[in-house]
Amino acid sequence: MTDHIYWKDGSLYLLDQRALPFKKTYLQCKGLKDIVYAIKSMVVRGAPLIGIVAAYGVALGIQEILASKGRIKDDDIDKICEKLAKTRPTAVNLFWALERMKNAFRQYSNKADMPDLMTDEAIAIHVEDIENNRMLSLYGSELIDDGDTILTHCNAGALATGGYGTALGVIRAAHAGGKKIKVIATETRPYLQGARLTAWELYEEGVDVEIVPDNHVGFLCYNKGIDKVIVGADRIALNGDTANKIGTYMIALCASRYKIPFFVAAPVSTFDRNINNGAYIPIEERDSREVKYIHGKPLTLEAIKARYYSFDITPERYVSNFITEKGIIEKPFKKYIKMLFS
Ligand code: MRU
Repeated sequence: MTDHIYWKDGSLYLLDQRALPFKKTYLQCKGLKDIVYAIKSMVVRGAPLIGIVAAYGVALGIQEILASKGRIKDDDIDKICEKLAKTRPTAVNLFWALERMKNAFRQYSNKADMPDLMTDEAIAIHVEDIENNRMLSLYGSELIDDGDTILTHCNAGALATGGYGTALGVIRAAHAGGKKIKVIATETRPYLQGARLTAWELYEEGVDVEIVPDNHVGFLCYNKGIDKVIVGADRIALNGDTANKIGTYMIALCASRYKIPFFVAAPVSTFDRNINNGAYIPIEERDSREVKYIHGKPLTLEAIKARYYSFDITPERYVSNFITEKGIIEKPFKKYIKMLFS
């Protein structure tokens, strides 16, 4: 699964994840506006992928300004990054990627081929993400035993990243290594990343996968043989508190109650070195219509209120280990997470 994002002839092509798994259509992004739309409206989603797409957005924004004004200033870069920063607030990979693109601009601004160098930087972010995922997946696969039943939530697969995936990358690597694994994928209401994306990715890969409604987790952890839980992350604080798709906290509580290992797989770009704990992580609240409608059909009366927090925070004490491209992180997390940045 590597064709969900590609750069061709000055445009970024994105597989529209809203239509999966039924239709494979691509959005051609020719400029900054297209990229902002793609992230905001969930054409693409998943923390690492949001960061990568935003990086290409900076490159496209620069090209647009040069085409219209003939020159570009620091101020223009700030404006481009502000527009991208406003798309989705929780995944720190977005802000990490924007910072990296700003640094690249500072380095290349006086060079004649600056626009190409900025595109190259976005491509480098993309390629490095795939490499990091492969590496963390190899480390993570050591934690998986032959015959395991693994529960995962949302989609932390190739589709959520530059390629290969984080939580699903670990499963992919263990499967490729010959381990027989069964995966339980929660539906992940209301956007259904589990039912539509995770199940599809694993099915295509030949992994034994079964979808369950989100409300099954307690029952399954209690008596249906879940051996491990693996999820991805949108932002991890220095103490290990973890933001991920809404519902992750509930799953972590159940896993802890029944002593089921709970692993979080994420690249170092998902760790936020600026915040000490999860209280500082901004939680996105999305339009309540995403709860009240499915494929345009109402589930309830228009007058009835609904709420949709897109993420929650799992306190670090419920996480058994983090799986990163630099290795497996043990407790005490505070001590070892800081070492990721040295
Ligand atoms: O709202 P989404 O689909 O962007 O949320 C995605 C998740 O919560 C993923 O689990 C997370 O970004 C990790 S992706 C490797």
